[in-house]
Amino acid sequence: MNHDHFYVTTPIYYVNDKPHIGHAYTTILADVLARGNRMLGKPTYFLTGTDEHGLKVQQAAQKNNTTPLEHCNRTVIRFKELWQKLEITNDYFIRTTEERHERVVQEILTDLHDKGLIYSADYEGWYCIPCERFFTEKDLQEGCCPDCHRKVEPLVEKNYFFKMSQFQKPLIDYIESHPDFIQPAHRRQETLGFLQKPLGDLCISRPKSRLSWGIDLPFDDQYVTYVWFDALVNYISAVGYKTDEEQFRRWWPASYHLIGKDILTTHTVYWPTMLMALGLELPKAIFAHGWWLSQGSKVSKTALAGMTAAAKPASPMDMIESYGVDALRYYLMAAMSLGQDTEFSEEAFILKFNSDLANDLGNLTSRAVKMIEKNFAGKLPPASEPGEEEAALIAACQHAVKAMQNGIENMQLDRCITDVIAAVREGNRYFDLQKPWALVKEGNQEKLGKVLRNTTECLRIVSGLLYPVMPGKMTELRRILGIPQDKLVPEMQNLGKWNILPDGGALNPLETPLFPRIETAKAKFDASVKQAAKPAAATPILPNVISIEDFAKVSLKTA
Ligand code: MSP
Repeated sequence: MNHDHFYVTTPIYYVNDKPHIGHAYTTILADVLARGNRMLGKPTYFLTGTDEHGLKVQQAAQKNNTTPLEHCNRTVIRFKELWQKLEITNDYFIRTTEERHERVVQEILTDLHDKGLIYSADYEGWYCIPCERFFTEKDLQEGCCPDCHRKVEPLVEKNYFFKMSQFQKPLIDYIESHPDFIQPAHRRQETLGFLQKPLGDLCISRPKSRLSWGIDLPFDDQYVTYVWFDALVNYISAVGYKTDEEQFRRWWPASYHLIGKDILTTHTVYWPTMLMALGLELPKAIFAHGWWLSQGSKVSKTALAGMTAAAKPASPMDMIESYGVDALRYYLMAAMSLGQDTEFSEEAFILKFNSDLANDLGNLTSRAVKMIEKNFAGKLPPASEPGEEEAALIAACQHAVKAMQNGIENMQLDRCITDVIAAVREGNRYFDLQKPWALVKEGNQEKLGKVLRNTTECLRIVSGLLYPVMPGKMTELRRILGIPQDKLVPEMQNLGKWNILPDGGALNPLETPLFPRIETAKAKFDASVKQAAKPAAATPILPNVISIEDFAKVSLKTA
């Protein structure tokens, strides 16, 4: 097993969906982990892609009078464009329609068939078209699909089955002896609970009479491969299984498969048993995160379609347009407790942005940089031995470094972001306590230099720690701090050190605030009311401000 390498994957997204906040979340999470591991000096491979076979694609293509592949070619662009906008640094984008992947799936099927692990039999059960999954009578919930709760169709037909049941006991033993294999712990319990019932064999084929858009079974040309069997193989076909031995040995087993909690069974039961049947190592960890909710329900294509424009949560593209890429990345990473569901709201986003980024980090930056510009001609004051007064600031920064390293290694990003913001708050507290503006008045240039230098060191560390989350803004901040071009991408080993910026180094001017406060409609309204309520001498200077008398006549409606 290769522990020195980091290989992270996202689920491959259904190409039919329009990417929403839920998809953006997993991909950003993988990107933050990939960037974080590169910062730790680990060779890293980051995989994402699209799941392109199946009935929904076939139906959509028919509806649009085009071929399924052409349909995929058109729709995959939405994902590629969004990932580019979000500055996602994936090493490869796999499409399950690519030739290499299809070949590997067929070779795997041949191997399992040859080993006697795939057999044909009559299938009787229920099929959920939207989920593309078969269910037995006992799986159904009130006669509907247990996942999406929609109607299921009865079905009897000859199909091919993978002897999954044979691996039930080895899988239980594996999960029990590898406590970190399924994370968080409550998802591990969920899988173990599922495995208490007898595990059936997995139907891995679909007759072409019903579905032709899939990978042909190599041993029966009347059938295509079940889309989940095809899709899961992406995690190994993308890194060279059966095509590039060396690449495969380098990256497999994956360090983390990141998934949403709705695809737990496919990843923690189907996939490991498939790997066991192939005699391959299992991934080191499968991490299931929670859902982004809107008004209490999972954000999904179906839910979005049923919402009025006013109730719809903003799309990732809308959020980027309005607030920028880094603000969105920050919110998604900081606001969701890993493993739990979280309500997505633009209001909560704005509160978090204004508090952590505009008030804390943006403010500290402009305070320090402006004073260095004014009092030291924009050159970094010299380093000095830290004293008592710096103890709390240095301790908070060092704690943030440890927390971030731990957060990246142990999947606790939300918590470690809180620790980094705590270091920023300590920076502001230090600034307030040391009162550099008073030192300017007193002409105490030496102490002034010391305070500004220490604040800048804190900003350097924070800019490095938050770089995986906000690569654009943190690069901008690092540039402002005068960090040379070749050091703009931080290395974790330098972040634990104090006083490593060069004495006299030139800072770059802060032309506009790093995180301008977002004025909400409510904040603007409060300000205008305050203004209008002032005595006559200070009559409103803002345009569109009404008098308090007129305000009393207003009827307010929200939607
Ligand atoms: N194609 C399969 C995955 C195959 S992986 C071998 C699939 N695709 S999906 O597009 O429907 O979902 C992809 C991922 O997005 C899943 O992990 C799912 O949990 C996640 N999300 C979809 N909606 C979500 C939220 N509202 N919140 C967070 N993530 C959610 O399933």
